[in-house]
Amino acid sequence: MKTARSPKSESLAAEALRAVFDAAPDGMIVVDQEGRIRALNARVEELFGYDPEELIGGDVEILVPLEVGSQHRHDRAKFSSAPSARPMGVGLDLAGRHKSGATFPVDVSLSPVRVDGETLVIAAVRDVTERNRLREWGVSALRAAEEERERIALELHDDMAQRLAALMVHLRLARQSPDEDERESLMEGMRGEIQECAEAVRRIARGLRPPALDEVGVVAAIQAHVRSLRDSGEMRMKVEVERGPGAPRLNRDTELALYRVVQEALANAMRHAEAADVIVRIRTGPAGISAMVEDDGRGFDPTQVGLRGLGIVGMRERARNAGGELSIDSHPGGGTRVRVMIPSIGSGGDGDRPD
Ligand SMILES: Nc1ncnc2c1ncn2[C@@H]1O[C@H](COP(=O)(O)OP(=O)(O)O)[C@@H](O)[C@H]1O
Ligand SMILES: [Mg+2]
Repeated sequence: MKTARSPKSESLAAEALRAVFDAAPDGMIVVDQEGRIRALNARVEELFGYDPEELIGGDVEILVPLEVGSQHRHDRAKFSSAPSARPMGVGLDLAGRHKSGATFPVDVSLSPVRVDGETLVIAAVRDVTERNRLREWGVSALRAAEEERERIALELHDDMAQRLAALMVHLRLARQSPDEDERESLMEGMRGEIQECAEAVRRIARGLRPPALDEVGVVAAIQAHVRSLRDSGEMRMKVEVERGPGAPRLNRDTELALYRVVQEALANAMRHAEAADVIVRIRTGPAGISAMVEDDGRGFDPTQVGLRGLGIVGMRERARNAGGELSIDSHPGGGTRVRVMIPSIGSGGDGDRPD
């Protein structure tokens, strides 16, 4: 920094640097050669749950899981003897230890610095819980797609191929048969078989994509889905649709995303909520479409979902991919409200958004 010459700008620069340090999105921990914490930024307090005075001067090992503490001490000594900037524990699953004792996955990169003749190490710590969950969701989505393909392949193979093979046999028999009546009855049988084939093809295609989506649009598809759930009789369910002026412009992928989000929110309400009533509210307008799934069940703390389920991660990811937003409003004992809002194609996201 060129301006860092005059004493005045020097002190400003130091202040500015402190502000940068404090505002850094990663936790920054400055550790000396003995492994003592010499400085840290606000993000570290958030990540690990300590006050600065509880950490400054103490062992950095307080922040790593107990079972890896001694290994960490050993690795740290090795690093100190030949320090270089690098990510830590490449290929390892690193974890941090919160004051509560809970551990969470982290990425750490280390940068040695010389200050006043002393070598210090700056460790930048990033919480990768969310990233890991997204990755996991991606893997499970891929696996689900793979299983779906297998199921379809099986159905084509075991069902369609068998039917067609049978048809070939009957066709040959019909051609060879000298008897007019027998030919007639074989042909009649084949007509039925072809009809069944057509039905099977439709069924397989339906498995690939919610049919109603293409035929009647996303709102009616959601209504049909709710109807079929309601028929199971587990809880009261209703759909309220409010159509504003003008129709939203959505593409097929966006409609599918919205449908899947509502489907998962409803599945959660049925599986977890123990609700008496579930309401789906859909609002459409030129700015886009929004859907809300509200239950009066037992509620939960959305920040405490942890790694249990991938449904919520998936809903968020789908909404985000469609350019929309998802919010979950819930607390134990207070019911749950899941809202998803998807803007129209080309909508700048301002103006009269539906909510
Ligand atoms: N409507 C709801 N009412 C009560 N708890 C819910 C509701 N939706 C989600 N949850 C809680 O959040 C957790 C995570 O949901 P999700 O990510 O969909 O995973 P899964 O449904 O596979 O458990 C559920 O296991 C449940 O404890
Ligand atoms: Mg779920």
